[in-house]
Amino acid sequence: KEIIIKKQKLYKIHLDSARYFFNALFQNKNEGYKYLINRGLNDKTIKYFGLGYAYSNWDDLTKYLLSKGYKESELLESGLVLEKKDKSGYIDRFRSRIIFPIFDVRGNVIGFGGRVLGNLLPKYLNSPETIIFNKRYNLYGLNFAKKYIEDETLIIVEGYMDLIGLFQFGIKNVVASLGTALTKEQGKLIKRYAKKVIMAYDSDEAGTKATLKGMNILNEIGLDVKILRLDEAKDPDEYIRKKGVDLFKQHLNESVSFVQFKIDILKKDYNLNNVQEKLDFTKKVSQILKQIKSPIEVEHYANKISKETGISVNAIVNEVYGKYSNLR
Ligand code: UTP
Ligand code: MN
Ligand code: MN
Ligand code: MN
Ligand code: MN
Repeated sequence: KEIIIKKQKLYKIHLDSARYFFNALFQNKNEGYKYLINRGLNDKTIKYFGLGYAYSNWDDLTKYLLSKGYKESELLESGLVLEKKDKSGYIDRFRSRIIFPIFDVRGNVIGFGGRVLGNLLPKYLNSPETIIFNKRYNLYGLNFAKKYIEDETLIIVEGYMDLIGLFQFGIKNVVASLGTALTKEQGKLIKRYAKKVIMAYDSDEAGTKATLKGMNILNEIGLDVKILRLDEAKDPDEYIRKKGVDLFKQHLNESVSFVQFKIDILKKDYNLNNVQEKLDFTKKVSQILKQIKSPIEVEHYANKISKETGISVNAIVNEVYGKYSNLR
Protein backbone atom coordinates (compact mmCIF):
# COMPACT_ATOMS: atom_id res chain seq x y z
CA LYS A 1 0.00 0.00 0.00
CA GLU A 2 2.79 2.33 0.93
CA ILE A 3 4.42 1.63 -2.41
CA ILE A 4 1.24 2.58 -4.26
CA ILE A 5 1.18 5.95 -2.52
CA LYS A 6 4.86 6.39 -3.34
CA LYS A 7 4.23 5.60 -6.97
CA GLN A 8 1.33 8.04 -7.18
CA LYS A 9 3.63 10.73 -5.85
CA LEU A 10 6.28 9.94 -8.46
CA TYR A 11 3.70 10.05 -11.27
CA LYS A 12 2.67 13.49 -10.04
CA ILE A 13 6.25 14.73 -9.90
CA HIS A 14 6.80 13.52 -13.45
CA LEU A 15 3.63 15.13 -14.75
CA ASP A 16 4.48 18.44 -13.10
CA SER A 17 7.99 18.23 -14.49
CA ALA A 18 6.74 17.40 -17.98
CA ARG A 19 4.47 20.45 -17.88
CA TYR A 20 7.34 22.58 -16.62
CA PHE A 21 9.67 21.49 -19.44
CA PHE A 22 6.91 21.85 -22.03
CA ASN A 23 6.05 25.39 -20.97
CA ALA A 24 9.72 26.36 -21.03
CA LEU A 25 9.92 25.21 -24.63
CA PHE A 26 6.60 26.27 -25.97
CA GLN A 27 5.98 29.62 -24.31
CA ASN A 28 9.46 30.95 -24.81
CA LYS A 29 10.10 29.53 -28.29
CA ASN A 30 13.71 29.26 -27.20
CA GLU A 31 16.73 27.48 -28.68
CA GLY A 32 15.12 24.14 -27.84
CA TYR A 33 12.00 25.01 -29.79
CA LYS A 34 14.08 26.25 -32.70
CA TYR A 35 16.09 23.07 -32.71
CA LEU A 36 12.94 20.95 -33.08
CA ILE A 37 11.51 23.20 -35.78
CA ASN A 38 14.82 22.93 -37.62
CA ARG A 39 14.50 19.18 -37.47
CA GLY A 40 11.17 19.41 -39.21
CA LEU A 41 8.71 19.04 -36.35
CA ASN A 42 5.61 21.24 -36.22
CA ASP A 43 3.74 22.68 -33.24
CA LYS A 44 1.09 20.01 -33.35
CA THR A 45 3.66 17.24 -33.08
CA ILE A 46 5.60 19.03 -30.32
CA LYS A 47 2.39 19.36 -28.31
CA TYR A 48 1.22 15.82 -29.00
CA PHE A 49 4.41 14.33 -27.62
CA GLY A 50 4.72 16.97 -24.92
CA LEU A 51 8.30 17.80 -25.86
CA GLY A 52 10.09 20.24 -23.60
CA TYR A 53 13.29 22.02 -22.81
CA ALA A 54 15.60 22.17 -19.79
CA TYR A 55 17.65 25.36 -19.57
CA SER A 56 21.31 25.31 -18.61
CA ASN A 57 20.66 26.58 -15.07
CA TRP A 58 21.65 24.23 -12.28
CA ASP A 59 18.40 23.86 -10.39
CA ASP A 60 15.40 25.37 -12.21
CA LEU A 61 13.31 22.24 -11.90
CA THR A 62 14.44 21.47 -8.35
CA LYS A 63 13.36 24.90 -7.17
CA TYR A 64 10.07 24.64 -9.01
CA LEU A 65 9.23 21.24 -7.55
CA LEU A 66 10.21 22.33 -4.03
CA SER A 67 7.95 25.35 -4.44
CA LYS A 68 5.12 22.96 -5.27
CA GLY A 69 5.61 21.31 -1.92
CA TYR A 70 7.43 18.09 -2.81
CA LYS A 71 9.96 16.82 -0.30
CA GLU A 72 13.63 16.54 -1.12
CA SER A 73 13.53 12.80 -0.53
CA GLU A 74 10.72 12.47 -3.09
CA LEU A 75 12.62 14.49 -5.65
CA LEU A 76 15.69 12.31 -5.19
CA GLU A 77 13.62 9.19 -5.59
CA SER A 78 12.18 10.52 -8.85
CA GLY A 79 15.67 10.55 -10.36
CA LEU A 80 15.05 14.05 -11.72
CA VAL A 81 17.01 15.73 -8.95
CA LEU A 82 20.51 14.85 -7.79
CA GLU A 83 22.33 15.65 -4.58
CA LYS A 84 25.52 17.67 -5.06
CA LYS A 85 28.72 15.75 -4.43
CA ASP A 86 29.58 17.85 -1.37
CA LYS A 87 25.98 17.46 -0.16
CA SER A 88 25.56 21.22 -0.10
CA GLY A 89 22.34 21.15 -2.10
CA TYR A 90 20.46 19.75 -5.07
CA ILE A 91 20.71 20.05 -8.85
CA ASP A 92 18.62 19.03 -11.85
CA ARG A 93 19.56 15.90 -13.74
CA PHE A 94 18.51 17.39 -17.08
CA ARG A 95 20.13 20.63 -18.16
CA SER A 96 20.57 22.19 -21.62
CA ARG A 97 18.58 19.46 -23.26
CA ILE A 98 15.48 18.84 -25.32
CA ILE A 99 13.15 16.79 -23.15
CA PHE A 100 11.17 13.77 -24.33
CA PRO A 101 8.64 12.56 -21.75
CA ILE A 102 8.47 8.78 -21.64
CA PHE A 103 4.98 7.41 -21.02
CA ASP A 104 3.79 4.04 -19.84
CA VAL A 105 1.08 2.29 -21.81
CA ARG A 106 -1.65 4.06 -19.81
CA GLY A 107 -0.15 7.46 -20.53
CA ASN A 108 1.54 8.23 -17.21
CA VAL A 109 4.84 10.06 -17.52
CA ILE A 110 7.38 7.69 -15.98
CA GLY A 111 10.70 9.14 -17.11
CA PHE A 112 12.46 11.44 -19.53
CA GLY A 113 15.02 11.38 -22.25
CA GLY A 114 17.08 14.49 -22.83
CA ARG A 115 18.95 15.33 -26.02
CA VAL A 116 21.77 17.84 -26.34
CA LEU A 117 21.25 20.50 -28.99
CA GLY A 118 24.63 20.04 -30.55
CA ASN A 119 27.17 17.25 -30.81
CA LEU A 120 28.12 16.89 -27.15
CA LEU A 121 28.22 13.47 -25.53
CA PRO A 122 26.29 11.70 -24.26
CA LYS A 123 23.82 12.61 -26.98
CA TYR A 124 20.91 11.35 -24.91
CA LEU A 125 20.59 11.21 -21.17
CA ASN A 126 17.76 9.14 -19.74
CA SER A 127 16.02 8.89 -16.40
CA PRO A 128 17.46 6.20 -14.13
CA GLU A 129 15.44 3.16 -13.12
CA THR A 130 12.92 4.02 -10.43
CA ILE A 131 9.94 2.29 -8.88
CA ILE A 132 7.82 3.63 -11.78
CA PHE A 133 10.40 3.37 -14.59
CA ASN A 134 11.60 -0.09 -15.50
CA LYS A 135 13.29 0.27 -18.86
CA ARG A 136 13.24 -3.32 -19.97
CA TYR A 137 9.47 -3.49 -19.54
CA ASN A 138 8.64 -0.35 -21.42
CA LEU A 139 8.37 0.79 -25.02
CA TYR A 140 8.37 4.43 -25.96
CA GLY A 141 5.22 5.46 -27.79
CA LEU A 142 3.12 2.38 -27.13
CA ASN A 143 0.50 4.53 -25.38
CA PHE A 144 0.01 6.34 -28.69
CA ALA A 145 0.65 3.49 -31.14
CA LYS A 146 -1.85 1.10 -29.56
CA LYS A 147 -4.69 3.20 -31.00
CA TYR A 148 -3.29 2.96 -34.51
CA ILE A 149 -2.37 -0.67 -34.98
CA GLU A 150 -2.92 -1.65 -38.61
CA ASP A 151 -2.95 -5.17 -40.00
CA GLU A 152 -1.98 -6.41 -36.50
CA THR A 153 1.43 -4.88 -37.08
CA LEU A 154 3.74 -2.70 -35.00
CA ILE A 155 6.89 -1.13 -36.39
CA ILE A 156 9.86 -0.98 -33.99
CA VAL A 157 12.43 1.79 -34.29
CA GLU A 158 15.43 2.72 -32.16
CA GLY A 159 14.87 6.29 -31.19
CA TYR A 160 12.55 9.03 -30.08
CA MET A 161 13.06 11.05 -33.23
CA ASP A 162 12.37 8.08 -35.49
CA LEU A 163 9.02 7.49 -33.87
CA ILE A 164 8.04 11.14 -33.78
CA GLY A 165 9.20 11.73 -37.35
CA LEU A 166 7.20 8.79 -38.70
CA PHE A 167 4.21 9.83 -36.63
CA GLN A 168 4.19 13.31 -38.11
CA PHE A 169 4.12 11.73 -41.56
CA GLY A 170 1.07 9.70 -40.56
CA ILE A 171 2.77 6.40 -39.77
CA LYS A 172 1.54 5.86 -36.25
CA ASN A 173 1.77 2.17 -35.47
CA VAL A 174 5.31 2.62 -34.21
CA VAL A 175 7.12 1.98 -30.93
CA ALA A 176 10.72 2.70 -29.98
CA SER A 177 12.95 0.42 -27.96
CA LEU A 178 15.05 3.42 -26.85
CA GLY A 179 18.47 2.24 -27.81
CA THR A 180 19.41 -0.83 -29.72
CA ALA A 181 18.92 -3.67 -27.27
CA LEU A 182 15.40 -5.05 -27.46
CA THR A 183 14.43 -7.15 -24.44
CA LYS A 184 12.25 -10.23 -24.18
CA GLU A 185 9.95 -8.31 -21.87
CA GLN A 186 9.48 -5.62 -24.50
CA GLY A 187 8.71 -8.37 -27.01
CA LYS A 188 6.03 -9.78 -24.75
CA LEU A 189 4.54 -6.34 -24.31
CA ILE A 190 4.34 -5.98 -28.10
CA LYS A 191 2.62 -9.34 -28.33
CA ARG A 192 -0.23 -8.08 -26.21
CA TYR A 193 -1.06 -5.62 -28.98
CA ALA A 194 0.19 -7.07 -32.25
CA LYS A 195 0.94 -10.32 -34.04
CA LYS A 196 3.42 -8.96 -36.54
CA VAL A 197 6.40 -6.67 -36.13
CA ILE A 198 8.56 -4.86 -38.60
CA MET A 199 11.98 -3.96 -37.25
CA ALA A 200 13.21 -0.67 -38.65
CA TYR A 201 16.47 -0.06 -36.84
CA ASP A 202 19.30 2.22 -37.94
CA SER A 203 21.32 1.06 -40.92
CA ASP A 204 24.68 1.34 -39.12
CA GLU A 205 26.53 -1.67 -37.73
CA ALA A 206 25.05 -1.28 -34.25
CA GLY A 207 21.57 -1.23 -35.75
CA THR A 208 22.24 -4.31 -37.87
CA LYS A 209 23.63 -6.28 -34.93
CA ALA A 210 20.70 -5.25 -32.77
CA THR A 211 18.29 -6.29 -35.52
CA LEU A 212 19.80 -9.79 -35.61
CA LYS A 213 19.48 -10.12 -31.83
CA GLY A 214 16.07 -8.51 -31.62
CA MET A 215 14.49 -10.55 -34.38
CA ASN A 216 15.55 -13.80 -32.73
CA ILE A 217 13.93 -12.68 -29.48
CA LEU A 218 10.72 -11.64 -31.24
CA ASN A 219 10.62 -14.78 -33.33
CA GLU A 220 11.03 -16.97 -30.26
CA ILE A 221 8.11 -15.24 -28.59
CA GLY A 222 6.01 -16.21 -31.58
CA LEU A 223 5.72 -12.91 -33.39
CA ASP A 224 5.86 -12.77 -37.16
CA VAL A 225 9.02 -10.71 -37.76
CA LYS A 226 9.97 -8.74 -40.82
CA ILE A 227 12.91 -6.42 -41.36
CA LEU A 228 12.83 -3.05 -43.05
CA ARG A 229 16.12 -2.02 -44.67
CA LEU A 230 16.68 1.65 -45.40
CA ASP A 231 20.18 1.71 -46.76
CA GLU A 232 19.90 5.18 -48.26
CA ALA A 233 19.66 6.86 -44.85
CA LYS A 234 20.98 6.33 -41.38
CA ASP A 235 17.63 5.86 -39.72
CA PRO A 236 13.86 6.00 -40.43
CA ASP A 237 13.59 9.66 -39.40
CA GLU A 238 16.29 10.71 -41.84
CA TYR A 239 14.87 8.44 -44.52
CA ILE A 240 11.34 9.77 -44.47
CA ARG A 241 12.54 13.38 -44.55
CA LYS A 242 14.90 12.72 -47.45
CA LYS A 243 12.77 10.38 -49.53
CA GLY A 244 9.20 11.02 -48.46
CA VAL A 245 6.42 8.96 -47.04
CA ASP A 246 5.47 7.16 -50.27
CA LEU A 247 8.90 5.64 -50.75
CA PHE A 248 8.98 4.78 -47.07
CA LYS A 249 5.69 2.90 -47.38
CA GLN A 250 6.96 1.14 -50.47
CA HIS A 251 9.98 -0.11 -48.53
CA LEU A 252 7.68 -1.10 -45.70
CA ASN A 253 5.79 -3.33 -48.10
CA GLU A 254 9.07 -4.81 -49.25
CA SER A 255 10.20 -5.69 -45.74
CA VAL A 256 12.01 -8.99 -45.79
CA SER A 257 11.52 -12.07 -43.68
CA PHE A 258 14.12 -12.66 -41.02
CA VAL A 259 15.54 -15.58 -43.02
CA GLN A 260 16.03 -13.33 -46.03
CA PHE A 261 17.65 -10.72 -43.82
CA LYS A 262 20.16 -13.27 -42.50
CA ILE A 263 20.94 -14.39 -46.04
CA ASP A 264 21.43 -10.79 -47.19
CA ILE A 265 23.83 -10.10 -44.34
CA LEU A 266 25.75 -13.29 -45.01
CA LYS A 267 26.06 -12.51 -48.70
CA LYS A 268 28.03 -9.35 -47.99
CA ASP A 269 30.93 -11.48 -46.71
CA TYR A 270 31.27 -13.59 -49.86
CA ASN A 271 32.42 -13.03 -53.41
CA LEU A 272 30.14 -15.28 -55.42
CA ASN A 273 32.44 -15.10 -58.44
CA ASN A 274 35.01 -17.12 -56.54
CA VAL A 275 34.15 -20.83 -56.63
CA GLN A 276 35.30 -21.67 -53.13
CA GLU A 277 33.52 -18.68 -51.61
CA LYS A 278 30.39 -19.51 -53.55
CA LEU A 279 30.40 -23.06 -52.15
CA ASP A 280 31.03 -21.81 -48.62
CA PHE A 281 28.23 -19.28 -48.97
CA THR A 282 25.77 -21.86 -50.22
CA LYS A 283 26.63 -24.21 -47.36
CA LYS A 284 26.20 -21.44 -44.82
CA VAL A 285 22.85 -20.52 -46.33
CA SER A 286 21.79 -24.13 -46.01
CA GLN A 287 22.49 -23.89 -42.29
CA ILE A 288 20.16 -20.91 -42.09
CA LEU A 289 17.47 -22.73 -44.08
CA LYS A 290 17.60 -25.62 -41.60
CA GLN A 291 15.83 -23.33 -39.13
CA ILE A 292 12.75 -23.14 -41.35
CA LYS A 293 9.95 -25.53 -40.54
CA SER A 294 8.05 -25.35 -43.81
CA PRO A 295 9.52 -27.26 -46.79
CA ILE A 296 7.70 -24.87 -49.11
CA GLU A 297 9.59 -21.96 -47.61
CA VAL A 298 12.86 -23.86 -47.81
CA GLU A 299 12.25 -24.47 -51.48
CA HIS A 300 11.44 -20.80 -52.03
CA TYR A 301 14.80 -19.68 -50.66
CA ALA A 302 16.66 -22.57 -52.27
CA ASN A 303 15.27 -21.38 -55.58
CA LYS A 304 16.58 -17.87 -55.07
CA ILE A 305 20.01 -19.10 -53.98
CA SER A 306 20.12 -21.46 -56.93
CA LYS A 307 19.61 -18.56 -59.32
CA GLU A 308 22.42 -16.62 -57.67
CA THR A 309 24.93 -19.43 -57.45
CA GLY A 310 24.08 -21.76 -60.30
CA ILE A 311 23.89 -24.65 -57.86
CA SER A 312 20.75 -26.72 -58.37
CA VAL A 313 17.74 -26.35 -56.09
CA ASN A 314 17.91 -30.06 -55.50
CA ALA A 315 21.48 -29.94 -54.23
CA ILE A 316 20.68 -27.07 -51.89
CA VAL A 317 17.59 -28.76 -50.52
CA ASN A 318 19.56 -31.99 -50.04
CA GLU A 319 22.18 -30.03 -48.14
CA VAL A 320 19.48 -28.54 -45.94
CA TYR A 321 17.84 -31.81 -44.96
CA GLY A 322 20.89 -34.05 -45.24
CA LYS A 323 21.05 -36.19 -48.37
CA TYR A 324 20.12 -39.47 -46.73
CA SER A 325 17.50 -38.03 -44.44
CA ASN A 326 14.13 -39.75 -44.30
CA LEU A 327 12.58 -36.37 -44.78
CA ARG A 328 13.06 -36.58 -48.50
P1 UTP B 1 20.71 7.19 -32.05
O1 UTP B 1 22.12 7.48 -31.74
O2 UTP B 1 20.43 6.41 -33.28
O3 UTP B 1 19.99 8.57 -31.98
O4 UTP B 1 20.11 6.43 -30.78
P2 UTP B 1 18.71 9.09 -32.79
O5 UTP B 1 17.50 8.51 -32.13
O6 UTP B 1 18.87 8.85 -34.24
O7 UTP B 1 18.76 10.61 -32.41
P3 UTP B 1 18.99 11.89 -33.33
O8 UTP B 1 18.24 11.69 -34.58
O9 UTP B 1 20.46 12.01 -33.52
O10 UTP B 1 18.45 12.97 -32.46
C1 UTP B 1 18.86 5.77 -30.81
C2 UTP B 1 18.24 5.85 -29.45
O11 UTP B 1 19.11 5.28 -28.49
C3 UTP B 1 19.03 5.97 -27.26
C4 UTP B 1 17.98 7.04 -27.44
O12 UTP B 1 16.75 6.53 -27.01
C5 UTP B 1 18.00 7.26 -28.93
O13 UTP B 1 16.78 7.81 -29.41
N1 UTP B 1 20.32 6.58 -26.90
C6 UTP B 1 21.21 6.97 -27.85
C7 UTP B 1 20.60 6.81 -25.58
O14 UTP B 1 19.82 6.46 -24.69
N2 UTP B 1 21.78 7.43 -25.24
C8 UTP B 1 22.66 7.84 -26.20
O15 UTP B 1 23.72 8.43 -25.85
C9 UTP B 1 22.38 7.59 -27.53
MN1 MN C 1 21.40 4.34 -33.72
MN1 MN D 1 15.10 2.78 -51.81
MN1 MN E 1 18.17 10.03 -35.91
MN1 MN F 1 19.37 6.92 -35.13
